[in-house]
Amino acid sequence: MEYVIHRGVRIPLIGFGTYRLGSCGRSAETETLKYGICELGMTLLDTAEMYGGGLSEEILGSVISSTDRSSLFIVDKILPSNAEKGLYRSCCQQSLKRLGVDCIDLYLLHWKGNVRLQEMVGSMESLVKEGLIKHWGVSNFDTHEMEQLFECENGSNCFCDQILYNIAERGAEYDLIPWCREHDVLVMAYSPLCNCCEARTKVTDDPLIVSAAAGEGKTPESLMLSFVVRDRDIVTVFRTSGKEHLNMDMQNVFGEIPAEDMAAISEKYCPPAEKYPLEKI
Ligand SMILES: NC(=O)c1ccc[n+]([C@@H]2O[C@H](COP(=O)([O-])OP(=O)(O)OC[C@H]3O[C@@H](n4cnc5c(N)ncnc54)[C@H](OP(=O)(O)O)[C@@H]3O)[C@@H](O)[C@H]2O)c1
Repeated sequence: MEYVIHRGVRIPLIGFGTYRLGSCGRSAETETLKYGICELGMTLLDTAEMYGGGLSEEILGSVISSTDRSSLFIVDKILPSNAEKGLYRSCCQQSLKRLGVDCIDLYLLHWKGNVRLQEMVGSMESLVKEGLIKHWGVSNFDTHEMEQLFECENGSNCFCDQILYNIAERGAEYDLIPWCREHDVLVMAYSPLCNCCEARTKVTDDPLIVSAAAGEGKTPESLMLSFVVRDRDIVTVFRTSGKEHLNMDMQNVFGEIPAEDMAAISEKYCPPAEKYPLEKI
Protein backbone atom coordinates (compact mmCIF):
# COMPACT_ATOMS: atom_id res chain seq x y z
CA MET A 1 0.00 0.00 0.00
CA GLU A 2 1.09 3.57 -0.58
CA TYR A 3 -0.01 6.47 1.60
CA VAL A 4 -0.60 10.20 1.56
CA ILE A 5 0.11 12.38 4.56
CA HIS A 6 -2.69 14.90 4.84
CA ARG A 7 -2.64 17.46 7.66
CA GLY A 8 -0.29 15.14 9.51
CA VAL A 9 -2.47 12.03 9.09
CA ARG A 10 -1.23 8.98 7.16
CA ILE A 11 -3.98 7.67 4.89
CA PRO A 12 -3.86 4.74 2.42
CA LEU A 13 -4.21 5.91 -1.18
CA ILE A 14 -6.70 3.15 -1.86
CA GLY A 15 -9.44 1.88 0.41
CA PHE A 16 -12.67 -0.06 0.52
CA GLY A 17 -16.15 1.29 -0.10
CA THR A 18 -19.09 -0.47 1.50
CA TYR A 19 -22.08 0.73 -0.52
CA ARG A 20 -24.38 -2.32 -0.89
CA LEU A 21 -22.18 -4.36 1.44
CA GLY A 22 -24.30 -7.35 2.45
CA SER A 23 -26.18 -7.58 -0.84
CA CYS A 24 -23.94 -10.11 -2.63
CA GLY A 25 -23.59 -12.91 -0.07
CA ARG A 26 -22.39 -11.83 3.30
CA SER A 27 -19.69 -14.39 4.00
CA ALA A 28 -17.83 -13.97 0.69
CA GLU A 29 -17.98 -10.19 1.08
CA THR A 30 -16.70 -10.20 4.64
CA GLU A 31 -13.87 -12.55 3.62
CA THR A 32 -12.97 -10.14 0.81
CA LEU A 33 -12.96 -7.20 3.20
CA LYS A 34 -10.77 -9.06 5.71
CA TYR A 35 -8.39 -10.06 2.95
CA GLY A 36 -8.19 -6.48 1.66
CA ILE A 37 -7.54 -5.06 5.14
CA CYS A 38 -5.10 -7.68 6.40
CA GLU A 39 -3.28 -8.77 3.23
CA LEU A 40 -3.40 -5.67 1.02
CA GLY A 41 -3.30 -2.92 3.65
CA MET A 42 -6.64 -1.44 2.59
CA THR A 43 -7.23 0.11 5.98
CA LEU A 44 -9.11 3.13 4.62
CA LEU A 45 -12.77 2.08 5.02
CA ASP A 46 -15.72 4.10 3.77
CA THR A 47 -19.28 3.66 4.97
CA ALA A 48 -22.43 5.70 5.65
CA GLU A 49 -25.53 5.51 7.80
CA MET A 50 -27.48 5.49 4.51
CA TYR A 51 -25.93 2.26 3.18
CA GLY A 52 -28.48 -0.47 3.82
CA GLY A 53 -30.01 1.68 6.58
CA GLY A 54 -27.00 0.94 8.83
CA LEU A 55 -26.39 -2.65 7.65
CA SER A 56 -23.10 -1.79 5.94
CA GLU A 57 -21.83 -0.19 9.16
CA GLU A 58 -22.89 -3.28 11.12
CA ILE A 59 -21.17 -5.72 8.75
CA LEU A 60 -18.06 -3.54 8.65
CA GLY A 61 -18.16 -3.45 12.46
CA SER A 62 -18.19 -7.24 12.64
CA VAL A 63 -15.25 -7.47 10.22
CA ILE A 64 -13.08 -4.95 12.06
CA SER A 65 -13.87 -6.31 15.52
CA SER A 66 -10.87 -8.65 15.18
CA THR A 67 -8.60 -5.97 13.68
CA ASP A 68 -6.19 -3.55 15.32
CA ARG A 69 -8.38 -0.42 15.50
CA SER A 70 -5.39 1.91 15.46
CA SER A 71 -4.42 0.69 11.97
CA LEU A 72 -7.78 1.73 10.45
CA PHE A 73 -9.01 5.02 9.01
CA ILE A 74 -12.81 4.84 9.14
CA VAL A 75 -14.90 7.27 7.10
CA ASP A 76 -18.62 7.56 7.85
CA LYS A 77 -21.36 9.95 6.67
CA ILE A 78 -24.42 11.64 8.04
CA LEU A 79 -27.46 12.12 5.82
CA PRO A 80 -28.41 15.74 5.08
CA SER A 81 -32.00 14.96 6.19
CA ASN A 82 -30.63 14.15 9.65
CA ALA A 83 -28.19 17.05 9.63
CA GLU A 84 -31.02 19.46 8.74
CA LYS A 85 -32.75 18.32 11.95
CA GLY A 86 -29.56 18.90 13.95
CA LEU A 87 -29.17 15.18 14.75
CA TYR A 88 -25.37 15.16 14.44
CA ARG A 89 -24.62 13.77 17.87
CA SER A 90 -27.29 11.06 17.97
CA CYS A 91 -26.58 9.90 14.40
CA CYS A 92 -22.86 9.79 15.11
CA GLN A 93 -23.44 7.79 18.29
CA GLN A 94 -25.66 5.31 16.45
CA SER A 95 -23.03 4.88 13.74
CA LEU A 96 -20.34 4.35 16.39
CA LYS A 97 -22.50 1.69 18.03
CA ARG A 98 -23.12 -0.16 14.75
CA LEU A 99 -19.40 -0.01 13.94
CA GLY A 100 -18.44 -1.07 17.46
CA VAL A 101 -15.81 1.67 17.80
CA ASP A 102 -15.58 4.72 20.03
CA CYS A 103 -14.36 7.20 17.44
CA ILE A 104 -14.83 7.78 13.69
CA ASP A 105 -11.70 9.05 11.92
CA LEU A 106 -13.51 11.18 9.36
CA TYR A 107 -17.20 12.10 9.49
CA LEU A 108 -18.71 13.60 6.32
CA LEU A 109 -21.89 15.40 5.42
CA HIS A 110 -23.07 13.04 2.65
CA TRP A 111 -24.26 15.83 0.37
CA LYS A 112 -25.27 19.43 0.94
CA GLY A 113 -29.05 19.28 0.71
CA ASN A 114 -30.57 22.17 2.66
CA VAL A 115 -28.08 21.94 5.49
CA ARG A 116 -27.08 25.25 7.12
CA LEU A 117 -23.32 25.24 6.75
CA GLN A 118 -22.36 27.29 9.81
CA GLU A 119 -24.53 25.05 12.01
CA MET A 120 -22.94 21.96 10.43
CA VAL A 121 -19.42 23.25 11.08
CA GLY A 122 -20.29 24.06 14.71
CA SER A 123 -21.81 20.61 15.26
CA MET A 124 -18.90 18.80 13.61
CA GLU A 125 -16.41 20.81 15.69
CA SER A 126 -18.32 19.82 18.85
CA LEU A 127 -18.10 16.14 17.88
CA VAL A 128 -14.33 16.58 17.47
CA LYS A 129 -14.08 18.24 20.91
CA GLU A 130 -16.10 15.41 22.47
CA GLY A 131 -13.76 12.84 20.87
CA LEU A 132 -16.53 11.12 18.89
CA ILE A 133 -14.81 11.95 15.59
CA LYS A 134 -11.24 12.92 14.75
CA HIS A 135 -11.89 14.98 11.61
CA TRP A 136 -14.89 16.17 9.62
CA GLY A 137 -15.51 16.89 5.97
CA VAL A 138 -18.08 16.94 3.21
CA SER A 139 -19.07 14.93 0.17
CA ASN A 140 -20.41 15.94 -3.24
CA PHE A 141 -19.56 19.61 -2.66
CA ASP A 142 -18.77 21.55 -5.83
CA THR A 143 -16.37 24.50 -5.87
CA HIS A 144 -18.91 27.21 -5.04
CA GLU A 145 -20.15 25.13 -2.08
CA MET A 146 -16.59 24.73 -0.83
CA GLU A 147 -16.18 28.48 -1.07
CA GLN A 148 -19.37 29.00 0.97
CA LEU A 149 -18.09 26.49 3.53
CA PHE A 150 -14.76 28.28 3.87
CA GLU A 151 -16.60 31.53 4.59
CA CYS A 152 -17.98 29.92 7.80
CA GLU A 153 -16.13 30.24 11.07
CA ASN A 154 -13.82 27.17 11.30
CA GLY A 155 -15.00 26.10 7.82
CA SER A 156 -11.39 25.71 6.74
CA ASN A 157 -11.08 22.83 9.21
CA CYS A 158 -12.85 20.75 6.53
CA PHE A 159 -10.49 17.81 6.05
CA CYS A 160 -11.87 16.29 2.88
CA ASP A 161 -14.35 16.49 0.00
CA GLN A 162 -15.42 13.03 -1.20
CA ILE A 163 -16.46 13.31 -4.85
CA LEU A 164 -17.26 11.29 -7.95
CA TYR A 165 -14.07 11.08 -9.99
CA ASN A 166 -12.83 8.50 -12.44
CA ILE A 167 -11.26 8.14 -15.89
CA ALA A 168 -14.62 8.76 -17.58
CA GLU A 169 -15.78 11.56 -15.24
CA ARG A 170 -12.98 14.13 -15.11
CA GLY A 171 -15.07 17.26 -14.64
CA ALA A 172 -13.64 17.90 -11.15
CA GLU A 173 -10.20 18.48 -12.70
CA TYR A 174 -11.40 21.82 -14.07
CA ASP A 175 -11.55 23.81 -10.85
CA LEU A 176 -12.67 21.67 -7.88
CA ILE A 177 -9.54 19.53 -7.55
CA PRO A 178 -7.22 22.57 -8.00
CA TRP A 179 -9.30 24.48 -5.41
CA CYS A 180 -9.02 21.60 -2.92
CA ARG A 181 -5.26 21.37 -3.47
CA GLU A 182 -4.87 25.09 -2.93
CA HIS A 183 -6.93 25.00 0.28
CA ASP A 184 -5.40 21.81 1.70
CA VAL A 185 -8.62 19.79 1.42
CA LEU A 186 -8.11 16.10 0.68
CA VAL A 187 -9.93 14.83 -2.40
CA MET A 188 -11.33 11.33 -1.91
CA ALA A 189 -12.62 9.89 -5.18
CA TYR A 190 -15.61 7.58 -5.05
CA SER A 191 -16.75 5.20 -7.81
CA PRO A 192 -13.28 5.01 -9.41
CA LEU A 193 -14.52 1.96 -11.33
CA CYS A 194 -17.50 3.93 -12.70
CA ASN A 195 -19.97 2.31 -10.26
CA CYS A 196 -22.19 0.44 -12.73
CA CYS A 197 -21.36 -2.40 -15.09
CA GLU A 198 -22.37 -0.61 -18.28
CA ALA A 199 -20.21 2.48 -17.62
CA ARG A 200 -17.29 0.38 -16.36
CA THR A 201 -17.21 -2.05 -19.29
CA LYS A 202 -17.23 0.85 -21.77
CA VAL A 203 -13.79 1.62 -20.29
CA THR A 204 -12.54 -1.88 -19.50
CA ASP A 205 -13.47 -3.23 -22.97
CA ASP A 206 -11.90 -0.26 -24.75
CA PRO A 207 -8.93 -1.60 -26.83
CA LEU A 208 -6.91 1.50 -25.86
CA ILE A 209 -7.32 0.73 -22.14
CA VAL A 210 -6.87 -3.03 -22.60
CA SER A 211 -3.60 -2.54 -24.46
CA ALA A 212 -2.23 0.18 -22.12
CA ALA A 213 -3.08 -1.98 -19.09
CA ALA A 214 -1.42 -5.07 -20.58
CA GLY A 215 1.73 -3.06 -21.39
CA GLU A 216 1.90 -1.80 -17.78
CA GLY A 217 1.29 -5.19 -16.15
CA LYS A 218 -2.12 -4.06 -14.95
CA THR A 219 -5.69 -5.10 -15.56
CA PRO A 220 -8.07 -2.51 -17.07
CA GLU A 221 -9.62 -2.13 -13.60
CA SER A 222 -6.28 -1.56 -11.87
CA LEU A 223 -5.40 0.98 -14.56
CA MET A 224 -8.63 2.82 -13.67
CA LEU A 225 -7.51 2.95 -10.03
CA SER A 226 -3.94 3.91 -10.99
CA PHE A 227 -5.38 6.78 -13.01
CA VAL A 228 -7.23 8.22 -10.02
CA VAL A 229 -4.27 8.03 -7.62
CA ARG A 230 -1.61 8.94 -10.22
CA ASP A 231 -0.58 12.19 -8.50
CA ARG A 232 -0.41 10.48 -5.08
CA ASP A 233 -2.48 13.19 -3.37
CA ILE A 234 -5.98 11.99 -4.27
CA VAL A 235 -7.18 8.92 -2.38
CA THR A 236 -9.94 6.62 -3.53
CA VAL A 237 -12.41 4.04 -2.26
CA PHE A 238 -13.76 1.30 -4.49
CA ARG A 239 -15.88 -1.73 -3.88
CA THR A 240 -15.80 -5.36 -4.86
CA SER A 241 -17.55 -8.33 -3.33
CA GLY A 242 -15.00 -10.95 -4.40
CA LYS A 243 -11.35 -11.75 -3.78
CA GLU A 244 -10.70 -12.56 -7.43
CA HIS A 245 -11.87 -9.11 -8.52
CA LEU A 246 -9.97 -7.51 -5.66
CA ASN A 247 -6.70 -9.08 -6.81
CA MET A 248 -7.38 -7.98 -10.40
CA ASP A 249 -8.17 -4.46 -9.22
CA MET A 250 -4.98 -4.12 -7.17
CA GLN A 251 -2.62 -5.67 -9.74
CA ASN A 252 0.41 -3.37 -10.05
CA VAL A 253 -1.92 -0.54 -9.07
CA PHE A 254 0.91 1.73 -7.90
CA GLY A 255 2.96 1.24 -11.06
CA GLU A 256 3.36 4.57 -12.87
CA ILE A 257 1.29 5.22 -15.98
CA PRO A 258 3.87 6.10 -18.70
CA ALA A 259 3.50 9.60 -20.20
CA GLU A 260 2.62 8.26 -23.65
CA ASP A 261 -0.20 6.12 -22.24
CA MET A 262 -1.45 9.08 -20.20
CA ALA A 263 -1.47 11.24 -23.34
CA ALA A 264 -3.41 8.63 -25.30
CA ILE A 265 -5.89 8.21 -22.42
CA SER A 266 -6.39 11.97 -22.19
CA GLU A 267 -6.98 12.24 -25.91
CA LYS A 268 -9.93 9.87 -25.63
CA TYR A 269 -11.08 10.52 -22.04
CA CYS A 270 -10.58 14.26 -22.20
CA PRO A 271 -9.94 16.50 -19.22
CA PRO A 272 -12.65 19.20 -19.03
CA ALA A 273 -12.27 22.26 -21.27
CA GLU A 274 -14.92 24.16 -19.32
CA LYS A 275 -16.78 24.05 -16.02
CA TYR A 276 -19.54 21.44 -15.60
CA PRO A 277 -21.55 21.02 -12.39
CA LEU A 278 -20.05 18.23 -10.27
CA GLU A 279 -21.54 14.84 -11.20
CA LYS A 280 -23.01 12.84 -8.32
CA ILE A 281 -24.42 9.36 -7.84
N1 LIG B 1 -20.19 9.98 -1.10
C1 LIG B 1 -21.02 9.49 -1.97
O1 LIG B 1 -22.05 10.10 -2.31
C2 LIG B 1 -20.74 8.13 -2.59
C3 LIG B 1 -21.47 7.72 -3.71
C4 LIG B 1 -21.16 6.47 -4.26
C5 LIG B 1 -20.17 5.67 -3.68
N2 LIG B 1 -19.51 6.08 -2.56
C6 LIG B 1 -18.49 5.24 -1.91
O2 LIG B 1 -17.53 4.84 -2.90
C7 LIG B 1 -17.43 3.41 -2.91
C8 LIG B 1 -17.05 2.92 -4.30
O3 LIG B 1 -17.96 3.36 -5.27
P1 LIG B 1 -19.03 2.38 -5.95
O4 LIG B 1 -19.30 1.21 -5.05
O5 LIG B 1 -20.16 3.25 -6.35
O6 LIG B 1 -18.39 1.97 -7.32
P2 LIG B 1 -17.00 1.38 -7.85
O7 LIG B 1 -16.10 1.04 -6.74
O8 LIG B 1 -16.59 2.33 -8.88
O9 LIG B 1 -17.52 0.06 -8.58
C9 LIG B 1 -18.02 -1.02 -7.84
C10 LIG B 1 -18.48 -2.09 -8.80
O10 LIG B 1 -17.37 -2.53 -9.57
C11 LIG B 1 -17.43 -3.95 -9.68
N3 LIG B 1 -16.08 -4.47 -9.84
C12 LIG B 1 -15.01 -4.27 -9.03
N4 LIG B 1 -13.93 -4.92 -9.50
C13 LIG B 1 -14.33 -5.55 -10.65
C14 LIG B 1 -13.68 -6.40 -11.59
N5 LIG B 1 -12.39 -6.70 -11.45
N6 LIG B 1 -14.41 -6.88 -12.63
C15 LIG B 1 -15.71 -6.57 -12.77
N7 LIG B 1 -16.39 -5.79 -11.91
C16 LIG B 1 -15.70 -5.28 -10.86
C17 LIG B 1 -18.06 -4.40 -8.40
O11 LIG B 1 -18.71 -5.62 -8.62
P3 LIG B 1 -18.19 -6.96 -7.86
O12 LIG B 1 -18.69 -6.85 -6.48
O13 LIG B 1 -18.83 -8.05 -8.65
O14 LIG B 1 -16.69 -6.99 -7.96
C18 LIG B 1 -19.05 -3.28 -8.08
O15 LIG B 1 -20.30 -3.58 -8.69
C19 LIG B 1 -18.82 2.96 -2.44
O16 LIG B 1 -18.84 1.61 -2.05
C20 LIG B 1 -19.06 3.96 -1.33
O17 LIG B 1 -18.36 3.58 -0.16
C21 LIG B 1 -19.77 7.32 -2.02
